[in-house]
Amino acid sequence: MSEYRLTVLPGDGTGREVIVQAMRVIDVFEEHSPLSFDITEIPCGGQYFLETGEEWPEGSFEHCRDNSDAILLGAIGWPGARMPNGDMAGGQVILGLRSGLDLYANIRPVKLYQGVQHKVHGEHTDIWDPDLVDMVLIRENTEGLYHSLLRRSAQAAVGAKDEPLATPEFPGLEGEEVAWDPRPITRNGSERVIRFAFELAKRRQSHLQAPQRVTCVDKSNVLRGCRLFRSVFDEIDEEFDDIETTKAFIDAFTMWLVRDPEDLDVVVLPNMFGDIATDLASVLQGGMGMAASANIGDQHMLFEPVHGSSPKHAGQDKVNPIAAISSVQLMFDNLGARHNDPDALVCADILESAISSHLSEGGDVTYDLGGSASTSEVGQAIAERCGKLLQKHYPSA
Ligand code: IPM
Ligand code: MN
Repeated sequence: MSEYRLTVLPGDGTGREVIVQAMRVIDVFEEHSPLSFDITEIPCGGQYFLETGEEWPEGSFEHCRDNSDAILLGAIGWPGARMPNGDMAGGQVILGLRSGLDLYANIRPVKLYQGVQHKVHGEHTDIWDPDLVDMVLIRENTEGLYHSLLRRSAQAAVGAKDEPLATPEFPGLEGEEVAWDPRPITRNGSERVIRFAFELAKRRQSHLQAPQRVTCVDKSNVLRGCRLFRSVFDEIDEEFDDIETTKAFIDAFTMWLVRDPEDLDVVVLPNMFGDIATDLASVLQGGMGMAASANIGDQHMLFEPVHGSSPKHAGQDKVNPIAAISSVQLMFDNLGARHNDPDALVCADILESAISSHLSEGGDVTYDLGGSASTSEVGQAIAERCGKLLQKHYPSA
């Protein structure tokens, strides 16, 4: 019997709605498997800020840091919710946790399930090939262009003030109003996320029984930080004989991603390139409603759908809950791997089968996948499938 401390941060807009469905699924696992969770829910985000003047209650960051085996986040961001300094309200939550808990690997799997409408040509894939779209993008999550906002957010989360950097002199721009964002890329920051990518490729190799490839994406023809990133990639590549590697510049990569997705397995990218490429990649899997993510560090982990709070759809029970439910799948999988817990790994597989069979057998889907089901109908249908599969696997639980 494994009990995990789970902190749930529903956040803003449709984040709250999809988290209800994720929790419904977790309930079923609690009922029918050995997994159990000690759950704390914390209100947070831009809407909470507009109501209370705070991004989350005092002590929330410490709770996430000191009393959580896993964190599950809905979405952060709300129109008009800005801090006095112009930063988005709720940044303390999402960026404060990524930075303050050192969640350096943002894992974003991109997989087209059988039965899901393809967003590029708009057809259901008649000739569905499981290898066509099945990759994992790993975004560096603690530095690069996000550096200063990450730092401000992490400092604010512990009640400390960040000293802004003095604006350097930009020769030739004297007298101009300049806004600038530093983009530090460090050896250590690159090394840990790149090593993570190679290790993940090894784990996928044993799972998929196929040779795996790691692709490094950067702009090292132009940028110094990217040159360091790529040279660290080359060094780590030397340590892994059985993993193939390829390299691409981000501009060409965006074309390659859409044109030949079957060439890609594990892809590692600096922070901002990863942010952009993962939204683009989501069209290969049926859109943002399908895109799940895990933010992993050596001590902590946080799971979230990649989509935002979608204010225009909020309150309508309309959006796709599968990205949030798949984030729970990633949570089971990562808890299992980290805590050496075979039941959590089994539950991850069961949840994966529930999602894939729901889609391949023509289960109800939301508008974004061409259906007309509500958020809660899809959540309920997947939860029911989980219940049936669990009762087969754990007849006495
Ligand atoms: C994401 C989001 C966030 C980011 C925002 C909400 C700060 O776009 O998780 O991809 O830019 O990282
Ligand atoms: Mn993004």
